[in-house]
Amino acid sequence: MLILGLETSCDETGVALYDTGRGLLAHALFSQVDIHVEYGGVVPELASRDHVRKALPLIQQVLAQAGCAPQQLDGIAYTAGPGLVGALMVGATLARSLAWAWGIPSLGVHHMEGHLLAPMLETEHPEFPFIALLVSGGHTQLVRVDAIGEYRLLGESLDDAAGEAFDKVAKMLGLPYPGGPHVARLAQRGTVGRFEFPRPMVNRPGLDFSFSGLKTFTLNTVKTCRAETGLTEQDLCDIACAFEDAVVATLVIKCRRALEQEGLTTLVMAGGVSANHKLRSQLQQAVAKSGARVFYPAPEFCTDNGAMIAYAGAQRLLAGQHDAADASVRPRWPM
Ligand code: KG4
Ligand code: ZN
Repeated sequence: MLILGLETSCDETGVALYDTGRGLLAHALFSQVDIHVEYGGVVPELASRDHVRKALPLIQQVLAQAGCAPQQLDGIAYTAGPGLVGALMVGATLARSLAWAWGIPSLGVHHMEGHLLAPMLETEHPEFPFIALLVSGGHTQLVRVDAIGEYRLLGESLDDAAGEAFDKVAKMLGLPYPGGPHVARLAQRGTVGRFEFPRPMVNRPGLDFSFSGLKTFTLNTVKTCRAETGLTEQDLCDIACAFEDAVVATLVIKCRRALEQEGLTTLVMAGGVSANHKLRSQLQQAVAKSGARVFYPAPEFCTDNGAMIAYAGAQRLLAGQHDAADASVRPRWPM
């Protein structure tokens, strides 16, 4: 089955071609970061307009790359939610129109299911059942995955998502949007242990998270440094380092707890924050100690992309699912 995947839920236009027999054939991504950077965050209307400009040329590019004609396609998968309503509607309208014109089924996919299944695109991929840590700009969740479509939420952030906390801390430190990679880069030059930030909710039972207190703690540290000596470059690096350490330690503790609670030995990490090197290496070390294994997507498939949507859609289309005639986008959509 040859499936075209289209991702337009936020500020990346992602397109990919996935074949259930041969794997990923081609993919392309256009990031809108340069458009939104001057506003310090995503401007929804600008995002929608740019998806309109980029989606079709990217589809043509991916088909050409793979040497495929539209007539060879068996279906089109697109992100139906959660995300920005206008951005989602651009992808859904285009995908459904093309599917109608080409006489093939379309299917709206859950964005977080795409992230969750992204590690399946790798040659060495996890087997069910596993625990998935989903860490993106909008979500921080621990999910038990027993099969495609069989997901049980074990815990989630009660306030900010981990990526959102990275982005807000980046702003406090004077770094551009999207902040995660910038904070991580600054943290590399930080003095480990100069500041000790709290690990939120680790002393409470359960698998929920909370990152808004950590954000406030970071802001207070910034203010104290500024008042005492003026904020130096080294202060910024040390604060970034302490913040990153606290987020990573918290996520690691909860992942180990989830594996233990569910009696599983496979962990999957996905979503934008899973591109973070410190998180990847510390999770790897911690999980290996207990004889478990951790799987990640390739870095390019950690953040939003079309390949994960093509893969998730292909599995569901293969199982006989497709859009109902009155399908629409779902900006808020629990998984
Ligand atoms: O999954 P994603 O691309 O989009 C959403 O679905 O939200 O995740 C984007 C988030 C942003 O908050 C970004 O700052 C964060 O992932 N991020 C990182 C890193 N790379 C991206 N956070 C920490 N370290 C990174 N290296
Ligand atoms: Zn995402």
